[in-house]
Amino acid sequence: MSDKNTERLVSAKQSGEDNGLDFTLRPKNLDDYVGQEKSKASLKIAIEAAQKREENIEHVLLDGPPGLGKTTMAHIIANEFNSNIRVTSGPVIEKSGDLAAILSNLGEGDILFIDEIHRLNKTIEEILYPAMEDYALNIIIGKGPSARTVRIGLPNFTIIGATTKVSLLSAPLRDRFGMHYHLDFYTVDEIKKIINRSASILGVEISPDAGESVACRSRRTPRVANRLLKRVRDYCQVKGDGFLSPDLCDQALEMLEVDKLGLDWVDRKILETIIDKFNGGPVGLNTISAATSEDMATIEDVYEPYLMQLGFIDRSPRGRIVTDNGYKHLGKQKSKQKKMDIGK
Ligand SMILES: Nc1ncnc2c1ncn2[C@@H]1O[C@H](COP(=O)(O)OP(=O)(O)O)[C@@H](O)[C@H]1O
Ligand SMILES: [Mg+2]
Repeated sequence: MSDKNTERLVSAKQSGEDNGLDFTLRPKNLDDYVGQEKSKASLKIAIEAAQKREENIEHVLLDGPPGLGKTTMAHIIANEFNSNIRVTSGPVIEKSGDLAAILSNLGEGDILFIDEIHRLNKTIEEILYPAMEDYALNIIIGKGPSARTVRIGLPNFTIIGATTKVSLLSAPLRDRFGMHYHLDFYTVDEIKKIINRSASILGVEISPDAGESVACRSRRTPRVANRLLKRVRDYCQVKGDGFLSPDLCDQALEMLEVDKLGLDWVDRKILETIIDKFNGGPVGLNTISAATSEDMATIEDVYEPYLMQLGFIDRSPRGRIVTDNGYKHLGKQKSKQKKMDIGK
């Protein structure tokens, strides 16, 4: 993979430069959380009902592509309940003892946020079952015939799990979540709202047309929108007086090589490879990965969902296919080569 890719501007995955930005721009309550109206409405009711009963909220599972607001939502829930939130993630918990230690240190009403919960090791996952269901921890003491299980009670707590790949979650784990919300890509209007909100937090003025321009290129993903906004702001501060005018924004975005739909050179390379080398598909994911030298999981998690959302790629049982719209966007013609070969 090239260096350029590791710095990929429109990647929805969190990168080092996002840490501070995500934190500053993260909405703190549901009213500031733009979009995802269905999930928000249902969550609002669940929160109010639990608060009325003076109970904790049920375990919540949040799924959706990176950068759409899962971590933000988890913090908002904790905020609404004034709860402590402990943050961990699937790949970080290596041994069952790690999880046992985290669980036994939780207090009454605490929230445990487990990011990338699909990457939790299966044996560790099993510790979660009684913890989520009965607030109990079964610990095995000793080895061999003398081993015995000790059951320790845990305080009432809530797990919020986040995943970009809900299909990898085992059914028993999924079933233990009382609520499951799927976050979807945002509309361009919603992204515009997020950009305006972020601009005012960052203290910059942005023209409506410039906002639209940035929004269209943000892959319908808040994290990408915020990142582009920050780059455009830098450009306008250096090249102009700091006002985000349509002209300067377009120049900045052009320089960043993000096209009008938010595709960068990697997206285009993927589409071009399928078209040029495989006659538009169908072609398997591993072949695309080999031909583009891009990591298969990254193609599947990061690039493909948005290309599918745009309707540029279709999935078929035999592999990925570039659609007519995909050809059009790249300004390419569907090859008639096969037909001509027959005609010759
Ligand atoms: N609904 C939203 N409204 C406003 N900003 C949002 C929203 N969702 C996400 N963001 C912004 O995008 C950033 C990335 O969101 P995050 O919750 O970290 O995504 P995820 O955990 O799904 O990868 C946040 O820091 C926040 O600034
Ligand atoms: Mg996150």
